[in-house]
Amino acid sequence: MNNIAIRNARIVTPMGFAAAKGKDMGHLNIIDHGAIVVTDGVISWCGDDDDFPSTYSSDNYRIIDAGGRVVLPGFVDSHTHLIFGGYRPDEFEWRLKGDSYMSIMERGGGIQSTVNATRTESAGSLADKAQWFIDRMVEMGVTTVEAKSGYGLDTESEVKMLDVIQHLADAPEQKLRIVSTFLGAHAVPKEYKGRTGEYVDMMIREMLPAVKDKAQFCDIFTEKNVFEIEDSRRFLQAAKDIGFKLKLHADEIVTLGGAELASELNAVSADHLLHVSDAGIKRMVEAGTVATLLPLTAFALKEPFAPARKFIEAGAAVALATDLNPGSCFSGSIPLTIALACIYMNMTIEETITALTLNGAAALDLAGETGSLEVGKSGDMLILEFDNYRMLPYYVGMNCVNTVISKGRVVCENLEVV
Ligand code: NIG
Ligand code: FE
Repeated sequence: MNNIAIRNARIVTPMGFAAAKGKDMGHLNIIDHGAIVVTDGVISWCGDDDDFPSTYSSDNYRIIDAGGRVVLPGFVDSHTHLIFGGYRPDEFEWRLKGDSYMSIMERGGGIQSTVNATRTESAGSLADKAQWFIDRMVEMGVTTVEAKSGYGLDTESEVKMLDVIQHLADAPEQKLRIVSTFLGAHAVPKEYKGRTGEYVDMMIREMLPAVKDKAQFCDIFTEKNVFEIEDSRRFLQAAKDIGFKLKLHADEIVTLGGAELASELNAVSADHLLHVSDAGIKRMVEAGTVATLLPLTAFALKEPFAPARKFIEAGAAVALATDLNPGSCFSGSIPLTIALACIYMNMTIEETITALTLNGAAALDLAGETGSLEVGKSGDMLILEFDNYRMLPYYVGMNCVNTVISKGRVVCENLEVV
């Protein structure tokens, strides 16, 4: 029974069925003494607790007394590399000693090292490992996650990764919603070293048709010495032509025009954007492309943070996500993402909440389905330990979540994944 009613709650939520842009990101709707009802997994009533309809009785609904604590929409982590073989702690140490992310990649480490490990690992073992990370996400209040392929880089291994994602998404007891992204254009694999154009040709000819029905989004690492603008445009256009929605890893390491390309192709989101140009910001606002910022990556790479304020002041829709991956950012911490956004990117806590809920959903083209607490949306929400949402950044890097509800099902209670 996915029927649940939460009473005596402070309901805090952005509003709308599309991304909140610019200063609208700072507007949260607050019901101080509210109640919310989920029927068959979908929000059927939300309002003042004094008006709670008596039809929702404990015969048919599990009633939870929130004790005045905050209820928020479930968090949406709209950018992760959840499926991967092995780990790369050695590279993390090299970087601490002064190596750069790109120099490690250029000498055959980095993404290629995870590709080697992922190709040889079985689908079952990749899935078990990913499920462990999913359970950690759920504890932090994530109810929707995006997962990318991109550590196969040959048709068979990319298909294996996407099948793992599909298997996890369809598991009957799965605790959250999983959206899958094809990222065959994550790096040029060693077999194609020096032949980037031929790898792009092969992806267009062979991989795209093979993965067409296995992922909703297609993504690419548009970067100097990886896939530059012309190859990125060619690849993304081919993906778009067969029905993929687009995302880009854009302007992460250098300013290359990834944001402009994302806008030109009407990508749903452009991600990273540490080195975005002012023209790129303007183009993204015009195109309505969501700016997905990943502060944990900037932090872990000791790079400057993306210009969140510039985006918001220009009227953009900003989303925040973790970028969990075994290389540039081995962290999926929602609490630390919140802290970095507020402390270093000067986002307000209200903007940060919108970026991790409604705008995260918009970055996955799911703003009509999740990301806010409104009648008709999925029953994805969390109860904090506190009665004040401002505790989220103040309790720096620590988890404020007590209970998590996904499609009306309690999936984590008193911090125990159930
Ligand atoms: O989003 N920059 C490219 N891709 C990932 C890192 C992947 C890896 O290092 O394994 C990113 O930062
Ligand atoms: Fe990434």
